[in-house]
Amino acid sequence: MPTNDNSYIIDAQSGNGFNAETFLKNYWQQKPVVIKHFFDNFVDPIDENDLAGLAQESEVDARIISNVKGSWHVEQGPITDFDNACQGKWTLLVQGVDKYVPDVTPLLHPFSFIPNWRLDDLMVSFATNGAGVGAHIDQYDVFLVQGKGRRRWRVGKPADYKEVFPHPKLRQIEGFDPVIDVVVEPGDVVYVPPGWPHDGATIEDSLTYSVGYRAPDNLQLAESLAMMLDKGAHNYRFTDASRSMQGNRAWVNPSDVAILKQQLIDAINGEDFTLALLEAMSEQGIPEYPLEDEVSLEQISNEFAAGISFVPAPGVRALLCDGKRGLPRALFVNGSQFEFGKSDQEWFEVLASGGVLNATCCQDAPSFTFLETLTTLINNGYWEWFEG
Ligand code: SIN
Ligand code: CO
Repeated sequence: MPTNDNSYIIDAQSGNGFNAETFLKNYWQQKPVVIKHFFDNFVDPIDENDLAGLAQESEVDARIISNVKGSWHVEQGPITDFDNACQGKWTLLVQGVDKYVPDVTPLLHPFSFIPNWRLDDLMVSFATNGAGVGAHIDQYDVFLVQGKGRRRWRVGKPADYKEVFPHPKLRQIEGFDPVIDVVVEPGDVVYVPPGWPHDGATIEDSLTYSVGYRAPDNLQLAESLAMMLDKGAHNYRFTDASRSMQGNRAWVNPSDVAILKQQLIDAINGEDFTLALLEAMSEQGIPEYPLEDEVSLEQISNEFAAGISFVPAPGVRALLCDGKRGLPRALFVNGSQFEFGKSDQEWFEVLASGGVLNATCCQDAPSFTFLETLTTLINNGYWEWFEG
């Protein structure tokens, strides 16, 4: 970490190395920073051919942004005609690569000092020499990990920039004065907080891994609330049995407004909304791929006892609540809750850690509840057999 904590550039290989605590204190959500040599001897876990393969799949969110002689084009995936889309200076961007390619998972490990629920996905882009998506502002934190090739990143301060749409599907800003202007190399990372304009232009054909975060706004939270109320939970109606006389009926009584607000606050403070929130926080938009031939609890129990190991499916990141301060004691996976007892906590912690799970992970034998949860997770396609 830097000797000067206010610096926009630090070197993970010098001094005491990268320190997550210092990073959280000085940079996270506050200011951008270039972390040189964050990954030692970086090796790309994927290449542009893999990305092109993903971009052809209908369930994958991909696009090609190109600039041909100064004019911008956007081709939304699934990409069928690469020759046509890959003209001029172009970038192929693929969202949610962590959900399809298990080899990229280790790349996320150094960022595990930020909790699972905040992580959205890993986007990977391949850009040809001189390409980029133009100056823009994102609403979310991002770690831009440089893979192969070199890229020049410029980052500016938050301000009221003029937005431009050089193509209906491309949101850019007109320009900014950079406070960071740096050329990054494989293994370097640029952290950009929400609202800071940035622009990355490649100097060589280049891969960039964007570790992107999410931060729900009130509209999204209200959607969780609406969904809960729609199911009938805490959907109370205004009552006013203790109304007193009022002269002019046009006047709105401030206490009526206060009661209406309290009605909603009570719904928000209820257990049902806690659950709705936790479900939303664990929602990863991972489609359920139920096993064609469902496995039984007995089978999983026998396999477990026989030493077989299990791992989460690519991209699956579980959340865990410990039953304290109004939270249930439960595991949450992609919007589903699995409650467990205190005596099972160790097993559920291992499960939620995302590592290889087998009978030797804990001293005590796994309980029925644990094996039942594991069986359900396997049948829903969220956990799978480890083929290591
Ligand atoms: C890119 O990978 O080209 C764009 C990443 C970003 O600016 O958010
Ligand atoms: Co961006």
